[in-house]
Amino acid sequence: MNSSGFVVALWRGCTRDLIRPQPLSPLSASSSMMQSVLMSTQPVSAARLPYRVKVSAGKRYAWCACGHSKKQPFCDGAHRTAAPTISPLRFTPDKDRTLMLCACKQTKNAPYCDGSHLKVIFQDLVKSVKGVFK
Ligand code: FES
Repeated sequence: MNSSGFVVALWRGCTRDLIRPQPLSPLSASSSMMQSVLMSTQPVSAARLPYRVKVSAGKRYAWCACGHSKKQPFCDGAHRTAAPTISPLRFTPDKDRTLMLCACKQTKNAPYCDGSHLKVIFQDLVKSVKGVFK
């Protein structure tokens, strides 16, 4: 694979999760598909890079831990149907500041980015490279 193919593979892996799947219609989805969506217990990556967000002191925030919210990085209640076992993480900043909030949902220091997205990107890259050489 040449370098441009490598970049394309990386780009495809990184953008795959930026394109959200359309909501499933009960009429078009099979029951197993609906069940797998309803039974999701693992978070999904909302994006590959963290969100840079300005927060205000004393204001309450709910960071989306499941990755299904359409108001990333904050919860919109989508976890109730998409990942009922996952709850948002609520936090209240002590002063006005700019935070880097996790988007890949793999952080060990929620809601803050801990660099785990680099591992996710690397895993995507490995999958893409394996796909190219099949
Ligand atoms: S929508 Fe993801 S935790 Fe609420």
